[in-house]
Amino acid sequence: MEISFKDVTYTYFTGTPFEHRALQDINVQFKQGTYVAVIGKTGSGKSTLVQLLAGLLLPTRGVLQVGDTRIHSRSKKLGEYRKRVGVVFQYPEHQLFEETVAKDIAFGPNNLGCDVAEIEHRVTEAMVWMGLSPDLRDRSPFELSGGQMRRVAIAGVLAMRPDILILDEPTAGLDHLGQRDLLSILKRFHQHFGCTVVHVTHNMNEAAELAEQVVLMSDGKVIATGRPVEIFRNLPYLQVSGLDVPDVTKWIMSLNEKLSTPISTEIYELSTLADELVHRWRKGS
Ligand SMILES: Nc1ncnc2c1ncn2[C@@H]1O[C@H](COP(=O)(O)OP(=O)(O)OP(=O)(O)O)[C@@H](O)[C@H]1O
Ligand SMILES: [Mg+2]
Repeated sequence: MEISFKDVTYTYFTGTPFEHRALQDINVQFKQGTYVAVIGKTGSGKSTLVQLLAGLLLPTRGVLQVGDTRIHSRSKKLGEYRKRVGVVFQYPEHQLFEETVAKDIAFGPNNLGCDVAEIEHRVTEAMVWMGLSPDLRDRSPFELSGGQMRRVAIAGVLAMRPDILILDEPTAGLDHLGQRDLLSILKRFHQHFGCTVVHVTHNMNEAAELAEQVVLMSDGKVIATGRPVEIFRNLPYLQVSGLDVPDVTKWIMSLNEKLSTPISTEIYELSTLADELVHRWRKGS
């Protein structure tokens, strides 16, 4: 499903003294199956943007077109649409509520009307995806570690097999290893199922490594969108938005000051940079 925001504005508490325009004239498109990273400093409108996409908020003005569904200020009956969009909110483990891990993961597929065998299949599959051992099935999610609880919460969303997967700061609060593990799961999941992923993050390294399209937000507007290399080659521009380039880009830029043949700034994975350096060293350059 192609996603297209057309002149979308969103104002919280319209017509009250608390009125606050969070998004203004958003125009952006995501192709079916793209991994999109939404970046921008705090308060720039990232979460509001994805809540509109999830059908949880309606545009104050403008239209959001997702496949055949048109979402505007008077849209009704988005129930069917919402079933196709999976949302992993910030700190999703706070929303766990069932007695067991398996029941929690089953909640979404159950709501979708899947039969018992299908639910069972999806719960098992989602646990495998999230690296959750089968003996956690009957445990209470509240007895698990924070990292495991996060995995259970995400498994519950994956089990719905959404066409669009929204992740709002999915690695926030995890330790470095937990972050790496989760990112590699998300990358493989996207490659396997080909769903559209919209991943909100403060972390430029995450955006650079995973995204095919980056959306840069500032003060309720989309100020740039494009491939990571198109967004991250422009440090002054990012700094104006209160952001920075990915670490790998910083290292390449400083290496390139000393190299006669520069290294491509299109490299975002540390392992790829290491391979490039080893290759050059072997060649003696
Ligand atoms: N429920 C709400 N009621 C009123 N204003 C809100 C509400 N939620 C967000 N805002 C305001 O709308 C603007 C955009 O907020 P939003 O949460 O979308 O930003 P964000 O980029 O996700 O920020 P963060 O990185 O801190 O999560 C901010 O000025 C925020 O204060
Ligand atoms: Mg947010």
